[in-house]
Amino acid sequence: MASFPSAVLDEIRSRLDLVDLVSQFVALRKAGANWKGLCPFHTEKTPSFTVNPAKGIFHCFGCGVGGDAFGFLMRQDRLSFPEAVRALARRAGVDLPEDRGRRDEGEREALHRAMQLALAFYTDRLWRPEGERARAYLERRGVDPAVARRFALGYAPEGWDALLTFMRGEKVGEEVLERAGLVVPRQHGGGFYDRFRGRLLFAIRDLQGRVVAFGGRALGDESPKYLNSPETPLYSKGQMLYGMDLAREAIRTQNRALLVEGYLDCVTAHQYGFAETVAALGTAFTPAQLALLRRYCGEVVTFFDADLAGQKAAERAEELLEPSPDGMRWALSRNGSFGDAESVRLRVALLPPGHDPDTLLRTAGPAAFAECIAASRSLLAYALDRALAEIGDASGPRGRATAFARVAMMLAKVTNSEEALALAREAARRLGLDATQLWIEAQRLQGALRRPAATPPPASAPTGVPLAERELLLLLLAVPGARTALLPIVEDADLSHPGLRAILAALRARPEAPAEALMPDLPGDVERGVLAALLLDERDPMDAATELAQFQNRFELKRQLRRLREATRAIAEGQAAGGASIEGVQTELLALQRAGEQARELTLGGSAEARQHARPSGPQGVQTNG
Ligand code: UTP
Ligand code: MN
Repeated sequence: MASFPSAVLDEIRSRLDLVDLVSQFVALRKAGANWKGLCPFHTEKTPSFTVNPAKGIFHCFGCGVGGDAFGFLMRQDRLSFPEAVRALARRAGVDLPEDRGRRDEGEREALHRAMQLALAFYTDRLWRPEGERARAYLERRGVDPAVARRFALGYAPEGWDALLTFMRGEKVGEEVLERAGLVVPRQHGGGFYDRFRGRLLFAIRDLQGRVVAFGGRALGDESPKYLNSPETPLYSKGQMLYGMDLAREAIRTQNRALLVEGYLDCVTAHQYGFAETVAALGTAFTPAQLALLRRYCGEVVTFFDADLAGQKAAERAEELLEPSPDGMRWALSRNGSFGDAESVRLRVALLPPGHDPDTLLRTAGPAAFAECIAASRSLLAYALDRALAEIGDASGPRGRATAFARVAMMLAKVTNSEEALALAREAARRLGLDATQLWIEAQRLQGALRRPAATPPPASAPTGVPLAERELLLLLLAVPGARTALLPIVEDADLSHPGLRAILAALRARPEAPAEALMPDLPGDVERGVLAALLLDERDPMDAATELAQFQNRFELKRQLRRLREATRAIAEGQAAGGASIEGVQTELLALQRAGEQARELTLGGSAEARQHARPSGPQGVQTNG
């Protein structure tokens, strides 16, 4: 996450007064060392939103969000991390190195300038006499001139070097044009030619409204129908959405985005008043695109053709139900939303066969389109529908078994909700299966799915954090010397809570960092919430030295036991394999057992858990064998 040097982030943080910053948005009152107010991120009547200016962190005990100044601004103004860093760097008067230095910035600036000039050139040409053919095309497709201007539609003239010639006049070099994807090298004889020729151009703009790419539509039936800019330093298509610059406000105010497939679908939807529409740029929509939308709204409606394209979409839908490697973050919860607090409900609207949003709006009007939106179904319901259709009537025991397994798996990939239960019932009814059995199987599979990649804890963390683990983390965060003593002997497996494991990893990466400086190193909001809660822990100060010694003994013991188990296994394996040289291992085992005894004595008042572990059944078994 942090592409900024941590020294710079620390510098910004140390110069800012978090109470000052938060007070711009929240009325805060002093309460001891902290300040309190009504949480801006959820609705509440009694203040549980807490700011600690000394540590520079905030935490809401109501909804569990927490973080540092960067995290606060990201949430409050819905900024990305780099955006928040830049904003706060300005506020704090800190110069950002912007790492890779001025050279890269210079390069990007040059590309931006080239793209901006190209846009001016193309839009200008659309409204001149030579743009006649493109204007006629727009008229045929029913695009209002005002809408065409708002979207900065353009026209790339016929010929091989219209843009090149113009750019020569503007002193823009050919290499820059090539890197911007505006020209293509000739195969023979060197030189370049214009990429876009004789096409209607759709300008793809970033959130700041800067043009970063073009999509060019053929005016006749030449191929390809759409010719797009390649990926460039300014443009990676899976990360962007067409029309986002224009739709952003509407998406925010309506708390909903309409996600269509085509440029023209998007333009037409805006023309008919659906200003919250964006297009996915010729790709299946990506998690990055959804993450972008998630910053602005709670619901995304996608549109699929009832026939052919619907198939593609359904595949995509099932993919979205997969748990991702970093947990179930991108998996949908059972009400069709993403797992954590800032969830997005994904809905699927089915268009009448043969229609796309553009044709539906033009032939049937906005009311029909709105109806189609109203009739949309949750992604999960839709995916289930598709699965059921594919399974068919599941006649025969074989078919039924397949159907059972497939639907149970689908239900297992998502987390609790009423709707899931309803869907299980529906699936059971339609397939003639037993709903309870289906539900039980789904739960079982869910348990199995979760083991490798744990689900993030609910945002109101750190509830569900075992007390001992919490104590351990408090020590590591706050007590000088604890990190040196404990980091080498604590293992990930010693922590059951994924949020704590993330904090441990951050500590390992920067063992010298002050606790509050670890915020940007954490992978997500949940983890930051956990850290904030730990940093605001207000219980009585513990006797750190005693506790540290106890943990040290405990983990030392655990480590011994692990080695003991390993040695035991090695011996057992050695014996099974015909036992060549297990003598060395046996010596090691004896030494370990002795060390184990000592450790046990040390932890004399240690936890019941430690005592229990200290009585492994393994060694006895080995001794009788040996
Ligand atoms: P469609 O083929 O559905 O076209 O492609 P469309 O948007 O309905 O266009 P019209 O109505 O025929 O003018 C959907 C989207 O897929 C991408 C474009 O983003 C297009 O808007 N696409 C399609 C390409 O990038 N290249 C192509 O050759 C075709
Ligand atoms: Mn179309």
